[in-house]
Amino acid sequence: MSNPRMQLSTGDITTLYVDAIVNAANETLMGGGGVDGAIHRAAGPRLLDACREIREARPGVRCPTGEARITPGFDLPAEHVIHTVGPVWRGGGEGEPEALASCYLTSLMLAAEHGVASIAFPAISCGVYGYPIEAAAEIAVGTVADCLEADPRIETVLFVAFGAEVERALASAVRARAVDAGGR
Ligand code: APR
Repeated sequence: MSNPRMQLSTGDITTLYVDAIVNAANETLMGGGGVDGAIHRAAGPRLLDACREIREARPGVRCPTGEARITPGFDLPAEHVIHTVGPVWRGGGEGEPEALASCYLTSLMLAAEHGVASIAFPAISCGVYGYPIEAAAEIAVGTVADCLEADPRIETVLFVAFGAEVERALASAVRARAVDAGGR
């Protein structure tokens, strides 16, 4: 692997003992399905209360697309939840790649500011929001690798695949990044 601080894992992100898990939320931060629903169920009702306390950027929007917000993890084994909002896939010409990269970057910046050393990401936007998985995996791995190279504060980033297709895409993006790094 190009960077030993990046690791792949499979399964349910809500079970992980890391400093922070990332939630693929929506702009309201009021919960939803997919990983968002799983995180809210596992963290308990105090998570929704904490999200409600987050100041709205505009009516109904607590976290604009591409940004991130942090709360405690409450009943989760993880200490913090970093909520980020991925782009809805609309064909790729509406800033989706930049917004997705921004999710990873802003989540890592917020994590570092809060002394988070280990963080786990789900495949942001790859479920309900319909982002093509190979393209999303390339952005996820590329953005995180660049960020880790530039910033020593985060020790470990775990990419969590929930299903074989995401696992394959992440593994292949990590291999491609290792080949690139070897060629430099
Ligand atoms: N652990 C890890 N990954 C998970 C889990 C889990 N428990 N549950 C689902 N996933 C995976 C999905 O398989 C997918 O690969 O997380 C990835 C992201 O899928 P979604 O949760 O659908 O997130 P996203 O595509 O970003 O859509 C966000 O979904 O529920 C709503 O409130 C959320 O409206 C927002 C939208």
